[in-house]
Amino acid sequence: MPNDTGLFPPPPRADIVAAALPGLTGLPKTLPAMLFYDKEGCRLFYEITKLPEYYLTRTEMALLPSILSNIVPPGLTDGMLVEFGGSDETKARLLLDRPDRPFSTYVPIDVAAESLDAMQARMSRSHSWLNVLPVVGDFMQPLRLPKISGQPMGFFPGSTIGNLDPSAAIRFLRTARRSLGQGARFLLGADLRKSPDLLLPAYNDAAGVTAAFNLNLLRRLNTEAGADFDLRGFRHEARWNDAESRIEMHLISIRAQVVRLAGKIINFSEGESIHTENSYKHRAETLVRIAGEAGWDTLEIFQDHAGLFGEFLFQT
Ligand code: AVJ
Repeated sequence: MPNDTGLFPPPPRADIVAAALPGLTGLPKTLPAMLFYDKEGCRLFYEITKLPEYYLTRTEMALLPSILSNIVPPGLTDGMLVEFGGSDETKARLLLDRPDRPFSTYVPIDVAAESLDAMQARMSRSHSWLNVLPVVGDFMQPLRLPKISGQPMGFFPGSTIGNLDPSAAIRFLRTARRSLGQGARFLLGADLRKSPDLLLPAYNDAAGVTAAFNLNLLRRLNTEAGADFDLRGFRHEARWNDAESRIEMHLISIRAQVVRLAGKIINFSEGESIHTENSYKHRAETLVRIAGEAGWDTLEIFQDHAGLFGEFLFQT
């Protein structure tokens, strides 16, 4: 996931090909959103978070400080904050740096080992009182928590859950509940359903950063998997799918063309799309239902004044 450490050993070519080929040879064509986050993709995502149209990050960063006193059980001193997909500690710091220091342990889970290392180094300088125990792995998988500390609290900010369709979101939240154990709390940050007049510009900004982020996927397949995509042969498109309640990102072939990847010929017709990302925008009630199906009770829902973004506090 996104980070700014600049340390990214490219995964082996075979892994990239295995991740890309099934979707590119299927119909409709797709690519997995996790392929966005090579070094350049992380940099571009960081640029996205600062765009005027991309209200998500700034809204969540403004909302979190105002709810801190309401999310941690009173009197907690040896809590364990478990962040899913967390190689950037910016948001976790807001919880960790409370004056009463409710958490003594921080467990960030991420596939990017190097960025976790860099983060651990940063944190040991700034938070010598904190136990930082990174877990390298896919946060969708069950995990064994270090059993040294008190009550675990899950943390999944940034609306990353929007990349999961509802059944995958339920599976993720159920796995997380089992990993965190009985009595745990979970704080989920999620972008909410709203007018496409606001949503579409957030995924199709005037400066073209989101387009560059989307097209970077093809550049990556060229450099890391030996594909021969002509980057000028595709254009970025963001669509609002009202029935599924999601923003979709697509790369549209602007003409009929042929692309080669790992010895396979991939034919594109003019206007054909590669579906590269879903970003679900649920109503608060829908997220409560999804969490409920995964065995979580909703304790509280916090929203910014405009109701753009929600923080959901769950408990088992
Ligand atoms: C990191 C998945 C939350 O869906 O808003 C930003 C990724 N895609 N612009 C999102 C993204 C296009 C982002 N998440």
